[in-house]
Amino acid sequence: MFFVKCIVVAVALCSVSISAKDWWENEVFYQIYPRSFMDSDGDGVGDLQGIKSKLQHLKDAGINSTWLSPIFSSPMVDFGYDISDFRNIHHEFGTLKDFEELTAEAKRLGIKIILDFVPNHSSDKHEWFQLSANRTKGYEDYYVWVDAKGFDKDGKPIPPNNWVSNFGGSPWEWHEGRKQFYLHEFAVQQPDLNYRNPKVVQEMKDILVYWLDKGVYGFRVDAVPFLFEVEDLRDEPRSYDPKAEPTDYGYLVHTYTNHLPETYDMLYQWRAVLDNYTKSTDNVTRIMMTEANGEIKQQMLYYGNGTAEGAHFTFNFLLISDLNVNSTAHDFMFTINKWLSYLPLEYTSNWVLGNHDVHRVGSRYGAERIDGLNMLVMLLPGVGVSYNGDEIGMLDTFITWEQTHDPMALNAGPDRYQLFTRDPERTPFQWDDTLNAGFSTSKNGTWLPVNESYKTLNLKKQKADPESHYKLYQKLLELRKEKTIQDGDLVVKALSDHVLTMTRSLSGHDTFVFVFNLGEKNATINLECYSQLPLKSRLKVELKSVYATLPLGTILPISDFPIGPYEAYVLTSDISELRYRN
Ligand code: GLC
Ligand code: MG
Repeated sequence: MFFVKCIVVAVALCSVSISAKDWWENEVFYQIYPRSFMDSDGDGVGDLQGIKSKLQHLKDAGINSTWLSPIFSSPMVDFGYDISDFRNIHHEFGTLKDFEELTAEAKRLGIKIILDFVPNHSSDKHEWFQLSANRTKGYEDYYVWVDAKGFDKDGKPIPPNNWVSNFGGSPWEWHEGRKQFYLHEFAVQQPDLNYRNPKVVQEMKDILVYWLDKGVYGFRVDAVPFLFEVEDLRDEPRSYDPKAEPTDYGYLVHTYTNHLPETYDMLYQWRAVLDNYTKSTDNVTRIMMTEANGEIKQQMLYYGNGTAEGAHFTFNFLLISDLNVNSTAHDFMFTINKWLSYLPLEYTSNWVLGNHDVHRVGSRYGAERIDGLNMLVMLLPGVGVSYNGDEIGMLDTFITWEQTHDPMALNAGPDRYQLFTRDPERTPFQWDDTLNAGFSTSKNGTWLPVNESYKTLNLKKQKADPESHYKLYQKLLELRKEKTIQDGDLVVKALSDHVLTMTRSLSGHDTFVFVFNLGEKNATINLECYSQLPLKSRLKVELKSVYATLPLGTILPISDFPIGPYEAYVLTSDISELRYRN
């Protein structure tokens, strides 16, 4: 038997050539949900001119890159993820001219715009779908069509297999005109495109180039794992998840509809499109980030397979999927190292705290942990990803059944909608304490209600307050310019169930120490287990969570200092070279 005082896993980023870092490798990508960011014309729905008018906010916060959820023509069944024209702008958001103005303003401010590319499906209102449904020559196979397996005694067509849609129920919809089923992995109004058709493949590549020509710096690629399905349409096995009902996506294991080898290959082809574009224009890297939930090894393949390159990074959703309010410091340590353990050394890490599909970070982890989590994401190596509102600690909004818009929630019905709804995290940005939180001048309300907290929780107030989530966020972005944070090694240690710590260190530069008390009780910190911190060294409080009690500038020993419930600090170790950040 042996005793371990603290468990150590060190990840040295030794293969990264420090001088060779590209523009995106230490970037924070800020996700804008266009319907809810800023409304310029008072219709209660956000728009491109609204975004343009608020780009300065990104700049002020320290953000240089933003990815926009879909802005394209759409009937808005899935709020822009059902696209009826991949080359045009949705009318509530504006026009192509507005987009040009937006990119011009972004360029002026030095902000790069990344668009959402939604390749798996279109809207059923897309011209292609109409053409395909009536078997217009050349378009017959743009979608995944299949005959009925048979007809029941009432003459109702029987779907070809047992598959379940992400939004619940069978993903097969009978088309009366064509007398065939079409596949929809999401809403009925989102027919899956057929990637076994080379014409579809080419169309989608052309769309990438179309937007690159309009000045965007890359794409967030939506719902990647679903691009291909097995050709023989075999049944999928049961998951035996006791919570899943037969119509729930979780009822089956999606072996035959997710992460097929062809899917990875398509990703590698898109990467080649981007790389060719870069090479044939200005040599500025155009990036691809992919949304691909799955087993960790499946996820890593989206980066590349050793021969072909894929995404520059595939979203690391582990802080969403594997951790929550009940997670211990050991769980955090394990989860952080899980990603880094599987990530090939030549690739860039990334950390996603939230998005428009999951409850807000403070609602998942508890509002009192927001600052500690923002610190964690900003201090970990590689890319950080924020969802609009994270910088001010916005929380979920309670949405009644009557107010529900999300198709996933609507499909679940009034009794179960709360299990699925994504509306609570999509409510308008809280700019100030005026009408509609300053989001819109609409007198008839906003598309989703504004969170009642807006009078006290808003950007304007947080800019005025001496300390706030926003001010901390701003300082964290500033801190990311430090060489140590950009290139340094990482060591994560759980000092107890409640105390999570890590160091970032780089020879010749300051060492940064992060301490975070996840628990509701006081704790005493002893950092002697870090060999990078000499016993006699002292630490200085550089940054603190809003309610933390130790003032900025406090000098601490490396052992036996107190930390209150939920407090989080960034400390520096070399006091001779300390800067005191105000
Ligand atoms: C992605 C999007 C989500 C959308 C789905 C279907 O998961 O993030 O919002 O509903 O794809 O396009
Ligand atoms: Mg508007």
